[in-house]
Amino acid sequence: SSSIRLAVIPGDGIGGEVVAEGLKVLQAAGVKAETVEYDLGAKRYHLSGETLPDGVLEELRGFDAILLGAVGDPSVPPGVLERDLLLRLRFELDHYVNLRPVKLYPGVETPLAGVRPEDLDMIVVREGTEGLYAGAGGVLRRGTPQEIATQESLNTAFGVDRVVRYAFDKAQARPRRKLTLVHKTNVLTFAGDLWARTVDRVSVEYPEVTTDYCHVDAASMFFVNQTQRFDVIVTDNLFGDILTDIGAAVAGGIGLAASGNVNPSRTSPSMFEPVHGSAPDIAGQGKADPTATILSVAMLLDHVGLGAVAARVEQAVADDLLGRQVAGSGRQTREIGDDIAARVAG
Ligand code: NAD
Ligand code: IPM
Ligand code: MN
Repeated sequence: SSSIRLAVIPGDGIGGEVVAEGLKVLQAAGVKAETVEYDLGAKRYHLSGETLPDGVLEELRGFDAILLGAVGDPSVPPGVLERDLLLRLRFELDHYVNLRPVKLYPGVETPLAGVRPEDLDMIVVREGTEGLYAGAGGVLRRGTPQEIATQESLNTAFGVDRVVRYAFDKAQARPRRKLTLVHKTNVLTFAGDLWARTVDRVSVEYPEVTTDYCHVDAASMFFVNQTQRFDVIVTDNLFGDILTDIGAAVAGGIGLAASGNVNPSRTSPSMFEPVHGSAPDIAGQGKADPTATILSVAMLLDHVGLGAVAARVEQAVADDLLGRQVAGSGRQTREIGDDIAARVAG
């Protein structure tokens, strides 16, 4: 059997609470893992001013994968931990695919009337290293009435091509073989044009994949009233961020939404994390649902070649979710982790 080297970054708020349950399930699944924990986040920032020291980043490169809880804390100015820790990890480790399944599991309540699991099963392939997140822009005359703030979206032919190809591969491997580009080509004419031309060009290599296009405003609407439209979506960094929170809400809540920051070329470790943040409003109370993190662990296992174990973890989650109809919620973070771990251990 196999052993993986895993870096763990619990982070802030509920991050540590949900990561503990993810690791519990990993252990219950019988996965041999050598884990090293890194105390990055608000506490370390307050103690030393450090967000992501270069030495830590270099160490992280040596792992098979990274499991992250969440970062961000009300005591730290917005953007410090988000940009200098989380986004820096995504950029430095070249996580150009931010993989975000949006899937309604049987038994899970959705706010969408009449929507069944077969109507809501998609994968959002969110670009992870470019777009508005790249940090291009600046400010002039800050604090004056003449202030001008610009924030530009960076889109390279190289960057768009590689994520679009990944999305086509994903679509090709799924039964419906449908890929939808989501953008705003009617307004963002430079970037939108690059994305649209790239999808057109690559589509020739995937004759079995049907391609489709949706403006992001319309796509947001279809996430609520026509979820069956979507199979695989490819989109830029910010649109993907926003769409996947809508996706989480319609597929049972942010506590269930998993993600992977993937480097498909495997030049550095991929990083798996729940879509949600550090939830300062419920931190330390045992109220956080660890399911998103546990499903992220399943994605991690799949990525490191343990597909069969990943499937067992996902099935245990699916069984637990089905059971919630009967048992109801009201379980603490740790109890949900215990129950899923018990199912995985079988
Ligand atoms: P959030 O996801 O932390 O919380 C939004 C709402 O969802 C809150 O009411 C919260 O209680 C609830 N929630 C989140 N996770 C939950 C869970 N597992 N179970 C039950 N309820 C859950 O988003 P926010 O409030 O906008 O951001 C809080 C902080 O987290 C900010 O600093 C933000 O920058 C950061 N953040 C980090 C990440 C990340 O690390 N990947 C993602 C999003 C936000
Ligand atoms: C997410 C978060 C991050 C993002 C923030 C915290 C930088 O919202 O993982 O979805 O915008 O990507
Ligand atoms: Mn987000």
